[in-house]
Amino acid sequence: MELLFLFYVLYVITSLALGLLDQEFVDLSHDYFQVSARSGVPAMHAALLPPSGMVVFLDKVENYSELRLPNQRLAYSSLYDPQIRNVSPLAVTTNPFCCGGTFLADGRLVTLGGNAPLPELDPTVGDGFDAIRYIGMENGDYTWEEPGNKLASKRWYASAQTMADGTIFVAAGSLNGLDVLNSSNNNPTYEILDVNGLSNGRNFRMDILVENMPY
Ligand SMILES: *[C@@H]1O[C@H](CO)[C@@H](O)[C@H](O)[C@H]1NC(C)=O
Ligand SMILES: *[C@@H]1O[C@H](CO)[C@@H](O)[C@H](O)[C@H]1NC(C)=O
Repeated sequence: MELLFLFYVLYVITSLALGLLDQEFVDLSHDYFQVSARSGVPAMHAALLPPSGMVVFLDKVENYSELRLPNQRLAYSSLYDPQIRNVSPLAVTTNPFCCGGTFLADGRLVTLGGNAPLPELDPTVGDGFDAIRYIGMENGDYTWEEPGNKLASKRWYASAQTMADGTIFVAAGSLNGLDVLNSSNNNPTYEILDVNGLSNGRNFRMDILVENMPY
């Protein structure tokens, strides 16, 4: 704790000396949030992507999406460049509605679980209940990748956390998105993915998720 405080004091002194601190204070006499652009797609999820600082938005396909993919289908993910305020559509394979997400140690974002196909709006949307989706920068570009590896069980509303050793803790969720008070629909387990976000196929029971239903 003392060490942290020392660093903070040094930071303040250095910042004052460099005249940087003033610029970092938020001017509270003005609204802090300003609309700078549109996500172009429903934006249940948003994440800042390393190393570029681009922002990815993600949700299920909706008929009010403003962006379309090159194949004319409604987009349900987009990439926003805050530098030039440009938004572009991203293709996704499975329904990511209410998925969990976290970052892999190599900087890729991984999203886990989701919901059912949505044939009324887009028959190409795949079952996302046990999906694993990756996005990271490759050759200066970002695309969602779903090689086909799945979670060990279906998880709608999964929770995910990157552990100190780079493995991923994934817990809870609903097996089907049906009645949340019916324990048959609950998934009271966790699993651990490896540093590449791959499941070993094993679920472990978590009593706290049994005792505190729903997910
Ligand atoms: C979207 O679907 C809703 C029903 O879910 C409908 O009321 C609305 O008119 C549709 N909007 C468009 C742009 O198709
Ligand atoms: C609980 O859910 C299971 C599986 O979805 C279903 O078969 C069963 O009928 C449900 N029970 C009640 C009381 O709704």
